[in-house]
Amino acid sequence: QGEPAPAVDRHAPASFPKDFLWGTATSAYQIEGAVNEDGRGRSIWDTFAHTPGTIADHTTADRANDHYHRYKEDVGLIKALGVKAYRFSIAWPRIFPDGTGAPNPKGLDFYNRLIDELLAKGIEPYATLYHWDLPQALEDRVGGWRSSDTSKAFADYAGYVAERVSDRVKNIFTLNEAGRFLNFGYGWGIDAPGLKLPTGELNQARHHVALGHGLAVQAIRAHARPGTKVGPAENIAACVPVFDTPENVRAAEMATRELNAGLLGVMLEGKYADGFLAYSGKDAPKFTPEELKIIGAKNDFVGLNIYAPQFYIAASDQKPGWKVLPFPASFPHMNSEWLRVGPEVIYWAPRLAAKIWNLDTIYISENGTSSEDKIAADGQVYDLDRIMFLRNYLRQLQRATAEGVPVRGYFLWSLMDNFEWIFGFEKRFGLYHVDFETQKRTAKLSAAFYREVVVRNAIGA
Ligand code: BG6
Repeated sequence: QGEPAPAVDRHAPASFPKDFLWGTATSAYQIEGAVNEDGRGRSIWDTFAHTPGTIADHTTADRANDHYHRYKEDVGLIKALGVKAYRFSIAWPRIFPDGTGAPNPKGLDFYNRLIDELLAKGIEPYATLYHWDLPQALEDRVGGWRSSDTSKAFADYAGYVAERVSDRVKNIFTLNEAGRFLNFGYGWGIDAPGLKLPTGELNQARHHVALGHGLAVQAIRAHARPGTKVGPAENIAACVPVFDTPENVRAAEMATRELNAGLLGVMLEGKYADGFLAYSGKDAPKFTPEELKIIGAKNDFVGLNIYAPQFYIAASDQKPGWKVLPFPASFPHMNSEWLRVGPEVIYWAPRLAAKIWNLDTIYISENGTSSEDKIAADGQVYDLDRIMFLRNYLRQLQRATAEGVPVRGYFLWSLMDNFEWIFGFEKRFGLYHVDFETQKRTAKLSAAFYREVVVRNAIGA
């Protein structure tokens, strides 16, 4: 009775921090095309996609989005979103067609043109050095990531690129989703190079990848302009407490540390967690203390690619004290079956990662969804499911930043529809629809939605 109205404006939009960095992302093999141009070498993905039975719609990325020739138009699309940053990847086989040895200057020229165009349009370039397109020559010569020669070759390539672009590129991601390309490519045989290694060898390859990251960080710091920032972009095993009681949050935290021990954990702690070594037993990787020191050098930031959640519940009566829950068949997913809907994952993953590893700078280096996008009779693409997905995920991201979780930026995957690896062109993740016959790009409704969020730095009205 007679109480004053609450001071909170219930309709206030949920704002992001003042300097929050909005961006979008792509990767080289998925969009560039021009696979035989200007001296580019073959990558393991060229070989894999050309192997019958590997890609759902029997396509390859030989042409893809023809971005190699249309990059100016595509930078225009980025600009139209109002974002301040763009995460793209550099194709190692364009720079070193043979993996090592003589560089191909024309390869670097392309990225120089792209970087200059971005900067001219006021967009900050964030470069990823490895988004899965390993030079085939390295796979053939030394067995790819099965050998630490590849870790060293990666560092040489990283140092070479950093020296030449760091006058303009201030932020460099080393590897994209090491967990994915190792498990899918070297463990289960469904991504390039299509190997099914026994667990011990897979763990050893994992170690070489982690070492590649560490050596690359060293090389970048040795060759880049001072102030260049570097870190990984990893698809963290994202553990969400099924309900947020302190006990379940603790369970999700323990699970996050343990499940990421083989990559993110060793990169951020400089050691393999005891539980990981004990669990791996005779399959544990072989390593030296010196290698762990290199792998564990401090990163300037950590990129987290966030898509689907996994739900965890405390199980204090059993080891290890938590349990992962299976998804009921009726659990909703997006147009990609693996993409189970769980907006809270983008809140919990950075919150738990920041706590476990004491992080001060996190980027969401990828987040987004595929959708069954069609051009309507009026020429528009009404991707309401993508908008629903983004609205819910961004609300949870805003919640994280409002609580002080140190997420500094967000790169929406993806700028435009592209070659979705084993799905070929069947899955569409873009804010822009691409007609792969004509190469026509059409902004989807989600592009307008995202632009509103970016321009107002807030979600909600
Ligand atoms: C991420 C990758 O795993 O998810 C992207 O970094 C990829 O390159 C995206 O396009 C979607 O994955 P998928 O397997 O559905 O193509």
